[in-house]
Amino acid sequence: MRAAVIRQARPDDASAVAGVHVRSFRVAFAGVVPQDYLDAMDPSRKESGWRAGIAETQWPQSGVLVAETEAGIVGFAGFGPSQETSSIAEIGSLYTLPEVWGTGVGKQLMLVTLTTLGQADYAQATLWVLEANQRARRFYESVGWHADGAVVEDATGGVALDKLRYRRALGRPGRGRCRQHLGKPVDP
Ligand SMILES: CC(C)(COP(=O)(O)OP(=O)(O)OC[C@H]1O[C@@H](n2cnc3c(N)ncnc32)[C@H](O)[C@@H]1OP(=O)(O)O)[C@@H](O)C(=O)NCCC(=O)NCCS
Repeated sequence: MRAAVIRQARPDDASAVAGVHVRSFRVAFAGVVPQDYLDAMDPSRKESGWRAGIAETQWPQSGVLVAETEAGIVGFAGFGPSQETSSIAEIGSLYTLPEVWGTGVGKQLMLVTLTTLGQADYAQATLWVLEANQRARRFYESVGWHADGAVVEDATGGVALDKLRYRRALGRPGRGRCRQHLGKPVDP
């Protein structure tokens, strides 16, 4: 597959973003989150939340990036200030279609997100990931994130699951850290 183009989302991308969100979520969390919850997920109900989230973008402090190939939008990342500490960034969502898992699209999205957060002058970023989400945890650890010890309970779908906080330093190119990474968290 050709490399995806990573670009800032526009409000009219909301439908495609919601579609990627639901398809990716259903496959990633099958057997983890109750099937009733997964079956009831409806992209059309998520679309308005994404449209509003994209419209509220304050680039580069907050926004949504999409990965686009000849097949259309295949992934996205939403980010903004952390809900706990506004001087720290949070990646609120990162989803790619199962068809492109293992092709590097997730990494492309992550690198451009980190570059953008560095341009926004955040010194650090956090994200939350389910302890059971081994694929995502392996992915984050491969691009410089580490669990910082914080754990909360997540009750998505009515089942209590542990969610871990991951953390990473950021930096502008030329400041000596993260040179390879030139490019309210958005997750309705
Ligand atoms: C999290 C997620 C975005 C990560 O995607 P991914 O497929 O693991 O990551 P990439 O697309 O960057 O692919 C990385 C793999 O592709 C390989 N790869 C192949 N071609 C590559 C290329 N050109 N560039 C980089 N990596 C490439 C890498 O070696 C790596 O392989 P590995 O997993 O065996 O180490 C994806 O799994 C996903 O959407 N999951 C569901 C949603 C989710 O859990 N989100 C996180 C919620 S906190």
